[in-house]
Amino acid sequence: MDVIIRKDAASAVKLAAKIMVDQVKSKPESVLGLATGRTMEALYAEMIVQADAEGVSFANCKSFNLDEYAGLAGDNVNSYRYYMNHHLLTKIDIDLANTEVPPGIGNIPEECAKYEQKIVDAGGIDIQLLGIGRTGHIAFNDPFSSFASRTREVVLAEGTIEQNRPLFDNPEEMPYTAVTMGVGTIMDAKKNLMLITGEEKAEIAAKFIEGPMTHMISATALQMHEDCVVILDEAAASKIQEQKYCDFVFKNDPKWADYQNI
Ligand code: GLP
Repeated sequence: MDVIIRKDAASAVKLAAKIMVDQVKSKPESVLGLATGRTMEALYAEMIVQADAEGVSFANCKSFNLDEYAGLAGDNVNSYRYYMNHHLLTKIDIDLANTEVPPGIGNIPEECAKYEQKIVDAGGIDIQLLGIGRTGHIAFNDPFSSFASRTREVVLAEGTIEQNRPLFDNPEEMPYTAVTMGVGTIMDAKKNLMLITGEEKAEIAAKFIEGPMTHMISATALQMHEDCVVILDEAAASKIQEQKYCDFVFKNDPKWADYQNI
């Protein structure tokens, strides 16, 4: 795992955006794994700016999102499809027909199997963006999610409901179940890129990065991923024991040479 600590949220976001844009620059037909949440809003805004500045096109990319609330159709303002179209997909030149979000409605078990197959048919996810939830989840893989789990409908944990309910116009309308890529699906991505900002994430960030692997914190599965980059601002990294070593690695590992002045 590469753990990179940046001074503030703005520089953490810039670095994560550069990694995404560089991915598309080096492989224009990239398969992108996308995420939702408050943290991602700044990242998508910055990706749009950087891609514009460098003339990077997403026209040949495909995308797969991590999760969707059960029962919400894509035109519902609280759905993750709506979020994605609003924050990123209609603001870049990707073909919307090549963008996928897990099925919130219909025959969910059948649609989940199809979703997994579509990822395989696309050649697998080249880079998967991730945030971390208050419960330590990746996507909506709340406690007890098997590290082998695939796309499926899950019941959300209390902490997740509390965290995301304020984002609903009418909080009472928040579904208690969601359709999410499994931990196993995420582990199949060729690269995982997590962005964590803000002091309220400091404790869970340290647990996920330095604590033991456990299905109580699905993000800890990433300790077994061969190419996982975690970018944090200083506030989110404040409880990590090995902060100095993280800085030393970032400064000295040649693979990060082009990313020093961000
Ligand atoms: C939701 C998403 C997660 C995301 C989390 C973090 O729960 N399902 O994929 O990581 O939000 O959200 P925020 O960035 O708002 O803290």
